[in-house]
Amino acid sequence: MGKIILTGDRPTGRLHLGHYVGSLRRRVELQNSGEYEKIFIMIADAQALTDNFENPEKVRQNIVEVALDYLSCGLDPAKSNLLIQSQIPELTELTFYYMNLVTVSRLQRNPTVKSEIQLRNFETSIPVGFFTYPISQASDITAFKATTVPVGDDQLPMIEQTREIVRKFNSIYAEVLVEPDALLPDNAACMRLPGTDGKQKMSKSLGNCIYLADSADEVKKKVMAMYTDPLHIQVSDPGHVEGNTVFTYLDAFSRPEHFERYLPDYAGLDELKAHYERGGLGDVKIKKFLNNVLQEELEPIRKRRAEYEKDIPAVYEILRKGTEKAREAAAETLSEVKAAMKIDYFKDSALIAEQVEKYKNS
Ligand code: TRP
Repeated sequence: MGKIILTGDRPTGRLHLGHYVGSLRRRVELQNSGEYEKIFIMIADAQALTDNFENPEKVRQNIVEVALDYLSCGLDPAKSNLLIQSQIPELTELTFYYMNLVTVSRLQRNPTVKSEIQLRNFETSIPVGFFTYPISQASDITAFKATTVPVGDDQLPMIEQTREIVRKFNSIYAEVLVEPDALLPDNAACMRLPGTDGKQKMSKSLGNCIYLADSADEVKKKVMAMYTDPLHIQVSDPGHVEGNTVFTYLDAFSRPEHFERYLPDYAGLDELKAHYERGGLGDVKIKKFLNNVLQEELEPIRKRRAEYEKDIPAVYEILRKGTEKAREAAAETLSEVKAAMKIDYFKDSALIAEQVEKYKNS
C-alpha cells in the first residue's frame, strides 16, 4: 500500500515562521517528492473550537487565512487535498467509537493536554470537548489511513495516543486501522523556533511572531529588533551564539548559497558563529544577513499569496472540493470500522438469516 500523509493546523490565526519550519516547508517538499499516494492537509476548525468555542467568529475568519498560507507556501490542490475538519461528520462519528478505547487517566497523562490545561488555566473546569481532543485527532489521522504525519515534536504525544488506539481497535475488532508514524523536522532549530524576543515559542499572544503574510518592511523591522545576546554590548565583545535568536533562525533558514550571495567573506554559518564568539562581529551585520535570507525565502510566498488573494471564491472552491474528496475517504474507513464493530446492521445480509434461524424453533 502507498504512503499517505495527513497533517493540519488549528485556524486560530495566520501561520508564522514556526509553523513554516516546523512542518509547512516539509509538507511542500513531501508533496513534490512524488513518494506519497495521497496527501491530506486539514484545517482543524473543530479542534480549534475545543478551546475557542466562545469565539466562533475567530475560527471562521481564520479558515481562509490558513488556506491562503497553505497555498502561498506551495501546497498544490492538484496534489494535496486541503480540507475543513468540521465538514466531515464521519470524523466525529469515529471519535465517539474510539472514546471506548481510551481511559480518562490516559488522557490526563497526555503531556500535550497536560501543558495546555496549565496554559489555559482550565485546571478544575476542563471542558470535556477539549479534554478529548486527542481522540478526535486520532480520528483525523486514522480516517485517512495516514502512514505519515509531519508535525512538530509537541504533537508526538498525539501520535502516540493514536497508535495506541489503532492497536487496541485492531486487536479487539479487526485489522482495519493503520498505525501512523510522526515525521519530525530534521534540525533542532526547526523543531521549536523561538519568538523574535527569544522566548521559547512563537505565539500570537506573546506578539513575537513573524507571519508568512508579513510585508517585507514588517519582516525587516522584526528582524532588526530581534533578541540577540544581552552581554554582547560592544562590537568587539565576544558574543554568545547559544540562545541567540538570530543564530537560531540562521540555523533554521540559511544555506551555503546565501553566504555566497550576501556574505561572501564567510565560508558558512560555522565561520560566522566563530567570528561572533571571538568578538568583532556586530549584531546589525548578522541581522541584515538574516533579513536577506528571510526575504529571499518569503518573497515567492508573498507573491503567490497576493495572486490567491485576488480570487477568494476560488480559494473556497479549492477547500470545498478537497473536503468532498476527503469525505469520501473518511466514509470508506468509517464503514469498515462499523463493519468490524458489528454495527452495520442494514448492510449485513447474513444478520437477518441468522436471526431467522434463531427464532425458527421457538
Ligand atoms: N493539533 C494540531 C495543532 O495544534 C492540529 C491538528 C489537528 C493535527 N488534527 C491533526 C495535526 C491531525 C496532525 C494530525 O497544530
